[in-house]
Amino acid sequence: MSLLEAVSASKVFQRRSAAGHASFAAVSDVDFSVSEGDFATIVGQSGSGKTTLLTMLAGLAAPTRGLVRFRGNDIYSLTDRELSALRNREISFIPQDMGLLGNLTVYDNIRAPQLFAGANAPESGRADFLLEAVGLSALAFEYPSALSGGEMRRVAIARALFNEPAVLVADEPTSALDPENSRMVMELLRAANRHGAAVIVVTHEAEAALCGSIRFSMKNGKLERLEA
Ligand SMILES: Nc1ncnc2c1ncn2[C@@H]1O[C@H](COP(=O)(O)OP(=O)(O)OP(=O)(O)O)[C@@H](O)[C@H]1O
Ligand SMILES: [Mg+2]
Repeated sequence: MSLLEAVSASKVFQRRSAAGHASFAAVSDVDFSVSEGDFATIVGQSGSGKTTLLTMLAGLAAPTRGLVRFRGNDIYSLTDRELSALRNREISFIPQDMGLLGNLTVYDNIRAPQLFAGANAPESGRADFLLEAVGLSALAFEYPSALSGGEMRRVAIARALFNEPAVLVADEPTSALDPENSRMVMELLRAANRHGAAVIVVTHEAEAALCGSIRFSMKNGKLERLEA
């Protein structure tokens, strides 16, 4: 049974031009589905609609047409509160810009899902465990501005793993990283996948794309399944 799926999903933006406004389909009629244990990779040129598709899958932007379902339920028919809870617990998104909170330490960025869930959430060893797993224990009390790009990326991944989500959605998690950091990031995603998470990764890198058990290519808003 599919865990997360897009059904004929399109996202249309209004674009300004000299002639006024024109509709532009960043994502066009996409069917996509992942099940438990899947590792899906999506490649495609800049502007082909990859981030737009991921934000719809991650519960951050409703499609203009079509549906996104998690465990069979239309996620955009949920209330804002229910959708936030789903994003906090079940579908983690690692944005292209990493989305770290500059006024929180590395430690608090990693346990942000817990902080957001309520001030009284109990302290757990989870943040320490993840800090260790991403090799950042020494930087726990630094702020993001003191970190390198690769370190920030690892914090974003640790945060996304905090609540052991059912689906991990990552937007170019290895871009601008050296080979060693890229390998570490891909290994973290593979480990989450081995522990049961479905993983969806957008990547420019051929090597990372080969990690996928199901592979896709995006072109002008259309998604195409690549042969294994
Ligand atoms: N909020 C928006 N309003 C209008 N157009 C948008 C908006 N967001 C994205 N677009 C357009 O939709 C297209 C797809 O953008 P998207 O960010 O999904 O591309 P991408 O495949 O992720 O590219 P990249 O590899 O550069 O990250 C682009 O042409 C972009 O200009
Ligand atoms: Mg993008």
